[in-house]
Amino acid sequence: MFSFRKPKKTLLGVDISSSSVKVLEISQEGSKYNLEAYGIEPTPPDSVVENTITDPEAVGSAIERAVLSSGSTSTEAACAIAGSKAITKKITLSSEVPEQDLEGQVQLEMVQHIPHPIEDISIDFHIENNPTDSGTPYEITVVATKSENVDSCVVALERAGLAPKVVDVELFALENAISLTSVLCREDKLSQVIGVVDIGSSSTKLSVLENGSISYNREQNFGGKQLLNEIQRSYGLSYEEAKARLAESSLEPGYEEKTLAPFVESAAQEVERAIQLFYSSSNASRLEHISLTGGCAAVEGIVASISAKTDTPVDIINPFDKISLAERIDQVKLKQESTMLLTALGLSARGLVF
Ligand SMILES: Nc1ncnc2c1ncn2[C@@H]1O[C@H](COP(=O)(O)OP(=O)(O)OP(=O)(O)O)[C@@H](O)[C@H]1O
Ligand SMILES: [Mg+2]
Repeated sequence: MFSFRKPKKTLLGVDISSSSVKVLEISQEGSKYNLEAYGIEPTPPDSVVENTITDPEAVGSAIERAVLSSGSTSTEAACAIAGSKAITKKITLSSEVPEQDLEGQVQLEMVQHIPHPIEDISIDFHIENNPTDSGTPYEITVVATKSENVDSCVVALERAGLAPKVVDVELFALENAISLTSVLCREDKLSQVIGVVDIGSSSTKLSVLENGSISYNREQNFGGKQLLNEIQRSYGLSYEEAKARLAESSLEPGYEEKTLAPFVESAAQEVERAIQLFYSSSNASRLEHISLTGGCAAVEGIVASISAKTDTPVDIINPFDKISLAERIDQVKLKQESTMLLTALGLSARGLVF
């Protein structure tokens, strides 16, 4: 085949949660981005419990199925551990520390903050500034997690036949997806203080972004599982049946008033509570905007309800409008599922420049 461009390897983003595994591959050519493939598969019961992969083999099989259904041929992958499984610290170190000694110094510094033997911990760090003048200390962001959290991701990816290249933290993957979204949508929201609310299956997470990076985050136990349980109870369905009916929007009349409206109301209350807790934290700035993501962002009426409760403009983060799509992608399905894919997008985009 005639091609003088060097083929560039893409990274497959793999987002593992207790309800599903999402895989997504995005590629880049200059300033153009293309969604090559994506797939969603349910996670086997009890294989992910409270953000911990307890059965990496079963999760690996689900990833393998998701990759197959997506049609992706990407072999290198990025996955993430939950924010609640990682400690993030900002530290400063003297600019006199030679670069080759930084890693050791960072480890020594972190020993004080971590209640586990250092040999059981994986640490990564990023230098935020460039201390060229002597005297300016290094400003360093350090992330630490128990090595077993990294290992279980790696085992799951390998079980799916993928080569793990990046093990990220979910929050940073989300941050990355939002940076890409603002580039794609040519928005200047990143200069604002925005609250990103991810309403998933079992959790609702608020992350506050200031100048494009997360300054606050908090997780609450609320999500679409509650709606599904309520549908099961009201209509005498199994969990799987409830999920299918919700996806097809084929629930009986009366569903909206009886089941959906109370869920939307509870969701708005949860978000309001999360935001109040943020405002009561020290140095909190006023949120100028709320951006929604996660499967429940697609629930009808949720945007208006949260906006009314919090008295703040609300929208749904949707970068997929601005990305070209490979032929294999079903546009109608993508529209329904796009709010579930932001973390996987942020992970795949780790391999890109933007
Ligand atoms: N169109 C829709 N209408 C209503 N609910 C939906 C819709 N699409 C998805 N959901 C709900 O969204 C949830 C899945 O969202 P998502 O994939 O973001 O969660 P998750 O990442 O698996 O969970 P968590 O982040 O809590 O671990 C499910 O509970 C599902 O029922
Ligand atoms: Mg999620």
